[in-house]
Amino acid sequence: MIRTASHTRDLLPAALSNDGDASAFIHRFQLVESLARDWFRRYGFQEIRTPIFERAELFARGVGAETDIVTKEMYTWRDRAGDDGEGESLTLRPESTAPVARAYIQHQMWKRAETARLYYIGPQFRRERGQRGRYRQFFQIGAETLGASDHPALDVEGVELVMGILSDAGLRDLELRVNTVGDAETRPRFVAAIRQALADRLEELSDDSRRRFETNPLRILDSKAEQDQPLIAALPPIYDFLNDECRRHFDAVQRYLDAAGIPCVVDARLVRGLDYYTKTVFEVVSHAPSVGAQNALAGGGRYDGLVETLGGPPTKGFGFALGLDRVVLAMPEDRAPEERPDVFVIHLGEAAFERAVSVVRDARRAGVAALLDVTPRSLKGALRLANKLGARFALILGEAELVTEQWALRDLARGEQLSVPAGEWLRHITRTTAT
Ligand code: HAM
Repeated sequence: MIRTASHTRDLLPAALSNDGDASAFIHRFQLVESLARDWFRRYGFQEIRTPIFERAELFARGVGAETDIVTKEMYTWRDRAGDDGEGESLTLRPESTAPVARAYIQHQMWKRAETARLYYIGPQFRRERGQRGRYRQFFQIGAETLGASDHPALDVEGVELVMGILSDAGLRDLELRVNTVGDAETRPRFVAAIRQALADRLEELSDDSRRRFETNPLRILDSKAEQDQPLIAALPPIYDFLNDECRRHFDAVQRYLDAAGIPCVVDARLVRGLDYYTKTVFEVVSHAPSVGAQNALAGGGRYDGLVETLGGPPTKGFGFALGLDRVVLAMPEDRAPEERPDVFVIHLGEAAFERAVSVVRDARRAGVAALLDVTPRSLKGALRLANKLGARFALILGEAELVTEQWALRDLARGEQLSVPAGEWLRHITRTTAT
């Protein structure tokens, strides 16, 4: 048997799932996607779909050549050389902020609007060690605000949006962590202080962190290695190095969050795993027992230098992405009932079958979810199946019903059976299912 590749999975209709694992039920993904689209509509965001693969260089420059994502986790290959020149180095996207910034530049969006508000829903790829809540193909719902202004109210608008989606999905026990990583002026001072603090203790650091000490010391702060933790804890906080502008921005973000009634925890060690951030960074973690160790449900922040790094004009940016797989893991069981048929049409006899085919077509055209059982069965067997599928009604068409044009409609939820004229049965169903 050929199975899915390591740490990837199928998302399935609940009724066709063998192991009953609700974290892979497709209707739960669809529910979060549809409520997210509605939140985006309210906040004036429009959808963008960028390609699943991009030139590898986009991520090296955008996300940062020294990040774990770029050094260890990207799926990159050299395309075959063809009519359009040398084979290029291509990458399955590990995230979508750099692609959206690329699209912003490529389509010169700054000429069209002062602020571009874009959202995306789709798969991302990282070669990570798989575990519960961490996959090599996973799904993100994300949003990016790009344009002229870096007003802190825009940061809070993004946080509000992600918190709105998460709470609408029924999630509780969430914690919002915020921090600032400074800007191009303050960061070198902080980096110099990290270097100074660690210079004499290099041999105590993990191999990765020792390498980062040379290339990108800020990344040491998100090391997960046990041996690095005491050294990281002893580093001075970034707040000691902020300039007035960064401090004001961070204070304003906290003030606006407070005004929005969104509680947050300031976490001085939060730096995030991507290099493009400036000023505000944030993460939302879940303390729900179903989530497990991979409890970061969403993350994001401000990235005022990214568009310029990628060759565009000076542009401010703020965005976030939530991990859809993890949101579904954290979602309460009863939040997303699966779609069920409104009516299951049962035919008893050959003549009734012909009629059932056209009846079920009428129902579907009228917007009713209708299923026809093509296999001949006893009434008892057919009703058992209708119940198993969770249908609200069963319409029973037998020889007698065809003659009288009075149809037997059984309300499976209430256990009642009615006799309704053929011309009225659909109205009866739409009236009941609408309430
Ligand atoms: P990120 O923190 O790398 O940020 O990913 C965002 C979210 O995606 C995480 O909080 C997590 O829920 C989910 N996620 C990441 N990796 C995996 C995985 N292997 N399996 C399952 N879920 C995962 C970004 O990607 C940034 N582009 C966010 C952003 C947008 N910043 C500004 N704009």
